[in-house]
Amino acid sequence: LSRRSFPKGFVFGTAASAYQVEGMAHKDGRGPSIWDAFIKIPGEISNNATADVTVDEYHRYKANLLCFTGITPYANLYHYDLPEALEVQYGGLLNRKVVKSFADYADFCLKTFGDRVKNWMTFNEPRVVAALGYDDGRFAPGRCTKCKAGNSATEPYIVAHHLILSHAAAVQRYRQKYQLTQKGRIGILLDFVWYEALTNSTADQAAAERSRDFHVGWFLHPIIYGEYPKSVQEIVKERLPKFTVDEVNIVKGSIDYAGVNQYTAYYVRDQQPNATTLLSYSSDWHAEFVYERNGVPIGPRANSDWLYIVPWGPYKAVTYVKEKYGNPTMFLSENGMDDPGNVTVAQGVHDATRVAYYRSYISKLKEAIDGGANCVGYFAWSLLDNFEWKLGYTSRFGLVYVDFKTLRRYPKSSAYWFRDVITGKN
Ligand code: FCB
Repeated sequence: LSRRSFPKGFVFGTAASAYQVEGMAHKDGRGPSIWDAFIKIPGEISNNATADVTVDEYHRYKANLLCFTGITPYANLYHYDLPEALEVQYGGLLNRKVVKSFADYADFCLKTFGDRVKNWMTFNEPRVVAALGYDDGRFAPGRCTKCKAGNSATEPYIVAHHLILSHAAAVQRYRQKYQLTQKGRIGILLDFVWYEALTNSTADQAAAERSRDFHVGWFLHPIIYGEYPKSVQEIVKERLPKFTVDEVNIVKGSIDYAGVNQYTAYYVRDQQPNATTLLSYSSDWHAEFVYERNGVPIGPRANSDWLYIVPWGPYKAVTYVKEKYGNPTMFLSENGMDDPGNVTVAQGVHDATRVAYYRSYISKLKEAIDGGANCVGYFAWSLLDNFEWKLGYTSRFGLVYVDFKTLRRYPKSSAYWFRDVITGKN
């Protein structure tokens, strides 16, 4: 496997997010985000860890860049960390005011950095923001029907709607004010679990497609076709916000490319609600996940409980976007696996499993590209071990091991392997 086997101009990189690596949470004028508030709640994060220092990239980032030249930045504007001030002032993402706030913030970034940054993304994983923040409450701001505040039947849909409108408003600013002169492009990052029907029964096939609609189509369908997927409209009915004609005009076609974050796949079977089913975004799927078929697991599990290693996932995901969504320019924008946090340096740097993971996933991605999928880049998650949200420091996704006490960095086998892929040596 080498970059030479990919189409000319294919991009390789690594992905990271500010909150997970930078630290300096309360310094240099940085105001608190909803994550700073959330991690203070005892029991929310493994070992009650904070991201106040995390791996200190705020001070150390230059060391990562010094040995390289020719790095091209791909900047994403929002990775879960809404200013807490907006949450307090007007209820954050639940309030439509957020659309203007986001567009103004995007405008500032585009104006200030657009001479150097030519590849923009508006949001990382809006589905995660809406579902984990407002359906099951596992992520900030921790709202759900069973939490101390929230409504899982309506709030995820309201938040998703505002995220889509915020995305579209930012893209509109870019297109009207900057794109012509700056000559860049803008898109969005969507998390994409691949849902495979457990059996070939009509009901399970429909459940798998419905799951893709509720997961990816929820955002991609409006962006490509100007409306929510039919299955979502039919099930959610009046709980689903509507786009006005003016909104459709700015939402439809509001990407120059789509980022596909792809880590895992699940089997799905049909599960219709019964009288006791609590009405919520997740129960609206009318589907259940299954992790084995005929006694054979879908794949080995990594450290994270949601992450089964299924190398054909990216193949299926980008091929699906190609077929259902008109083959937009795509990036495989996040992909990786984690080890437990308590792995020592000596163990951690010999990460043969991670090398095998990357080799198999990237090879499968290449098959999809050979089959015509318009995927033009690949980003590994992540360069460094870092603060993994709910899991704090009990998860290590890095190509580089970080000793969380001394903050020293130790490249893993996967870092050298990935370097050789990128430089064409492999
Ligand atoms: C993605 C997130 C990223 C990280 C990886 C493991 O869903 O975008 O921040 O948590 O998963």
